[in-house]
Amino acid sequence: MSTRKSIIRGTGAYLPSRILSNDDLSKMVDTSDEWIQERTGIKQRHIAAEDQVTSDLATAAALDALKNAGVSVDDVDLIVLATTTPDQTFPATATAVQAKLGVKSGAAFDVQAVCSGFLFAMATADSMLKQGLFSTALVIGAETFTRILDWSDRGTCVLFGDGAGAVVLQAEETDDDVGVIAHHIRTDGTKSDLLYVDGGVSSTGTIGHVRMQGNQVFRHAVTNISSAIKHVLDETELTIEDIDWFVPHQANQRILNGVAKKLGLPEDKVVSTVALHGNTSAASIPLALHTAVADKRINKGDLVLSEAMGGGFSWGASLFRL
Ligand code: UT7
Repeated sequence: MSTRKSIIRGTGAYLPSRILSNDDLSKMVDTSDEWIQERTGIKQRHIAAEDQVTSDLATAAALDALKNAGVSVDDVDLIVLATTTPDQTFPATATAVQAKLGVKSGAAFDVQAVCSGFLFAMATADSMLKQGLFSTALVIGAETFTRILDWSDRGTCVLFGDGAGAVVLQAEETDDDVGVIAHHIRTDGTKSDLLYVDGGVSSTGTIGHVRMQGNQVFRHAVTNISSAIKHVLDETELTIEDIDWFVPHQANQRILNGVAKKLGLPEDKVVSTVALHGNTSAASIPLALHTAVADKRINKGDLVLSEAMGGGFSWGASLFRL
């Protein structure tokens, strides 16, 4: 019997042209290319131009995804944008994307789950499409994350970058084994002091800067991610051996390797862009997904497992077939 499913029609990405290398950073704080590469795998990150805002990056990624999907902007009736670095406090950055794209119908709103944001946005859009509320969704992760960095804090400023990625999700009645299969999203508000921004509209009236106890986050990341992955696999009849590609949040090469090892996933199934993009928070998963689709590693029919962990704590996993 056919059921209503959310099908991934296409992916897209946008990276600002300016690149900041580890050597550039070593002139700003007491760090080195050797330390950053050894502890994180990061070689460089992209930085948005001064006149670029998050919705500019998101719009560029969305246009790329629509072109690759062969879907017209007129068909889009839902935009769910995951971001921690909105253009303004309100309205939602997704509505700026809606206006820039010229989308005239439906709804657009933001989702805030920091580095896990894209998986929360996918789960939200998938549920709304399956319920029949909308038919064609742009799910976007976009960040100008470097705007909330303390450039004198070597423990955080070397880790993050800017960018955007997007997928076009479309509802379809089908009995084919395609589209979004399962997702699991969770948060634990008691751990917010380990990764947060020390400012906000109603607290300090300032934007604030990222603060992180990196080694504590690292410890929780591997445990929470592994548990979320177990949940999505348990919901299905699929096993780790069925996974064609692992597209994790790109925080640290050591976390990627640790999770892959714990799962028994061979390294050649892991998509890693952390070396070239750094941690782009909500943008990292769709950027990595698009990279591997564009270079033809991930193809139609492939089963993809994704996961993320971020501030909140928030974490999750998603399973989908292209
Ligand atoms: O995406 C959201 C979720 N975020 C994450 O998943 C991040 C998770 N955490 C991490 O990726 C790692 O914890 C870091 C890469 C942030 C740090 O690596 P670590 O191996 O956990 O290092 P550490 O924080 O335990 O620090 C070890 C040493 C310290 O020096 P002492 O106290 O041992 O003398 C730090 O001060 O490394 C020092 N350090 C640095 N040294 C050179 C910290 N940052 C730097 C730096 N360059 N950039």
